[in-house]
Amino acid sequence: MFTTVDWRENTVVMLDQTLLPRRVVYRRLRSWQAVADAIKRLIIRGAPAIGVAGAMGVALGAVRLKRKDPDGFKRELKKIIRGLARTRPTAVNLFWALERMERIIDGHTGSTDSLKERLVEEALKIKKEDIEINQRIGSYGARLIKKNFTILTHCNAGGLATAGYGTALGVIRRAHREGKNIRVIVDETRPVLQGARLTMWELMKEGIPATLITDNMAGHMMQKGMVDCVIVGADRIAVNGDVANKIGTYTLATLARAHRLPFYVAAPTSTIDINISSGQEIPIEERPPAEVTHIQGVRIAPKGAEAKNPAFDVTPARLVTAIITERGVLRPPFKKTIRELFREARNR
Ligand code: MRU
Repeated sequence: MFTTVDWRENTVVMLDQTLLPRRVVYRRLRSWQAVADAIKRLIIRGAPAIGVAGAMGVALGAVRLKRKDPDGFKRELKKIIRGLARTRPTAVNLFWALERMERIIDGHTGSTDSLKERLVEEALKIKKEDIEINQRIGSYGARLIKKNFTILTHCNAGGLATAGYGTALGVIRRAHREGKNIRVIVDETRPVLQGARLTMWELMKEGIPATLITDNMAGHMMQKGMVDCVIVGADRIAVNGDVANKIGTYTLATLARAHRLPFYVAAPTSTIDINISSGQEIPIEERPPAEVTHIQGVRIAPKGAEAKNPAFDVTPARLVTAIITERGVLRPPFKKTIRELFREARNR
């Protein structure tokens, strides 16, 4: 396997995903600003992975701070959290992880050194939990996969997008390991090609049969009966079950419905934003137009061509067959099943 992100000798080490699959390069980051920059530039990407990186960014900022007065130290940490929160707006896991770190800061009463230790500990805990959560998502999700299924996936919701194992790819990994003889169709996922570059890399490394297609081939494949279900990850889920995920997901969900195919979303419960009642409230990141006019730095459109680049779209809940979480599979009506899930967690 590979390590997506790690904490080593008071630095954050991450696999540079902008260089995959051509080069496997690990970057060692020594400041929280470098972590923020890595999130912005997609060196690390994918909702849960951004959350882990954000938490490690806070820990890194803390261990580098020289101040000894606890109040001033905490004020500096809050600035760091605000800086990390300004990197990418859509994946709620980032804000969820930063809030978790902030709660440690607010609740701490000891020395600045002991707070540093607590923050490192919490960031490592978030990472460890994420891997366990993905494994649970994998085992719930694999029950939905029948023998000989061909599964279409979009973007990368794998080990690279998480602390390890993956959400949508976690389900695929588990079904493969259970000997279900599955095959995966991978959307290339323009503009940044997370499917072609990252999902294909992960699947091929593990010997899971996979076929790459360009995004506009999905409808044809479904029409020809070559797809049994779609599984994707999510960046933010509203309490009514609307799902924000990589641009193109909504198109796929619409196609899946037109062909009566199940459309599954695999995500940890930390991706559910209980403060948002519908997908319309989810902020959609606009990325540089150059990602559309260029592929891997090579211009493909005429010089000066205007382009738009929304990085995510929202799939309405009515197109989602089920949401696979670490606490079980949620079915419609999502307003009710999501509310019940959170009520159950509060009563525990
Ligand atoms: O822009 P990215 O690469 O960060 O977008 C990633 C996705 O859209 C993933 O599908 C999502 O974060 C789920 S990852 C488990």
